[in-house]
Amino acid sequence: MRVKVAIIGSGPSGLLLGQLLANAGIENVILDRASKDHILGRVRAGVLEEGMVHLMDEAGAGARMHAEGLPHDGISLAFDGRDHRIDLYGLTGGKRVLIYGQTELTHDLMNRREASGGISVYEAENVTPHHFAGKSPYVTYEKDGITHRIDCDFIAGCDGFHGPSRKSVPEGAIRTFEKVYPFGWLGVLADVPPVNHELVYANHPRGFALCSMRSNTRSRYYIQCPLDEKIEDWSDERFWDELRRRLPEHHAEAVTTGPSFEKSIAPLRSFVAEPLRFGRLFLVGDAGHIVPPTGAKGLNLAASDVHYLFEGLMEYYGDGSTAGIDAYSARALSRVWKAVRFSWWMTMMMHRFPETSDFDQKIQEAELDYLTHSSAAATALAENYVGLAY
Ligand code: FAD
Ligand code: DHB
Repeated sequence: MRVKVAIIGSGPSGLLLGQLLANAGIENVILDRASKDHILGRVRAGVLEEGMVHLMDEAGAGARMHAEGLPHDGISLAFDGRDHRIDLYGLTGGKRVLIYGQTELTHDLMNRREASGGISVYEAENVTPHHFAGKSPYVTYEKDGITHRIDCDFIAGCDGFHGPSRKSVPEGAIRTFEKVYPFGWLGVLADVPPVNHELVYANHPRGFALCSMRSNTRSRYYIQCPLDEKIEDWSDERFWDELRRRLPEHHAEAVTTGPSFEKSIAPLRSFVAEPLRFGRLFLVGDAGHIVPPTGAKGLNLAASDVHYLFEGLMEYYGDGSTAGIDAYSARALSRVWKAVRFSWWMTMMMHRFPETSDFDQKIQEAELDYLTHSSAAATALAENYVGLAY
């Protein structure tokens, strides 16, 4: 088979890129190691920046997102027993975020792809990019015991942090930057009404907590936990008790509990690979960078990468210019590093670290106090949270 672009990975970045290209008449194929059901069973992000929302519309997959997503104009920072609202809308000249689960977004993109006749291969084994340093790259994979080869002009590595794309780059050609945080997030999903109409990010001596949602009847909650914590040790009851202890009293009293139907622990990490382009291979989304979830940026960064790469490929197929694809890595990384900084800063400000000195603790408290008394500081948070311009 021959296509213009071979896309490895059917997560949000691969599906979004695939649909934008398909709409522009640029043939592509998507290969994923996992099954469709497995991908749709993953519970991940829930906060969309306006840039991501526009790209979903551009892909022609935005209808359900607009109908069911919840626009949010603010978030709450809870600490020291009080609650401080950050007025995202007011501080950014009218920008807001949309609450819509990654699972739903992925579903919508898969449906759109199916309706437009795009080719996706699921449960593809040993997916491997080849010869991307030269002019004739190709990707091989195995399915049902048969090896297949896809020749292409370009390979988009949209295969997440553990995928084969980044790993196939020769060691000397790539530089990586990493910070691992000494805790994880234990998250649950439950069909109970959210505790607050907006998200609550809580800093508490027992650790961070986040009250989020997927709808007016479905809540998503997270609490900071040690990395060696075992999910089996967390009954629903224990989770609800711990969550309530970390929230200011008025929120704690308003928590509606119920059986959870998803519970998992995610480690926190900052990671960036440079560059994001190697000849005819591009790294996109989590394949090229990871942020801790505190700033709600992982999925949104995948979207901005897709935007820059799509523009570059359009230019290439439109008038033969390589200017856009040549600029991809630098343009994407410039935005990535700002989101890495913001996610790191939010993580440092909101969590309790095992080795925190009294000095560090005082600095954290001063940071939160400053945010609540300075509109300049609150504006800096707000403009990053709603997403920096592409
Ligand atoms: P992915 O969604 O990881 O998609 C990559 C795809 O590549 C997958 O479908 C995978 O099956 C496929 N793949 C992997 N290996 C291979 C292979 N060998 N061959 C073929 N295909 C392969 N972000 C937030 O903003 N908020 C959150 O709360 C949040 N929670 C998260 C929780 C977890 C556990 C994780 C892992 C991430 C979370 N993120 C969160 C980050 C966010 O979900 C990601 O940034 C987003 O999924 C990136 O999309 P992507 O398409 O680049 O990568
Ligand atoms: C969600 C996750 C985040 O990391 C975040 O900062 C906000 C919301 C969520 O899953 O809803």
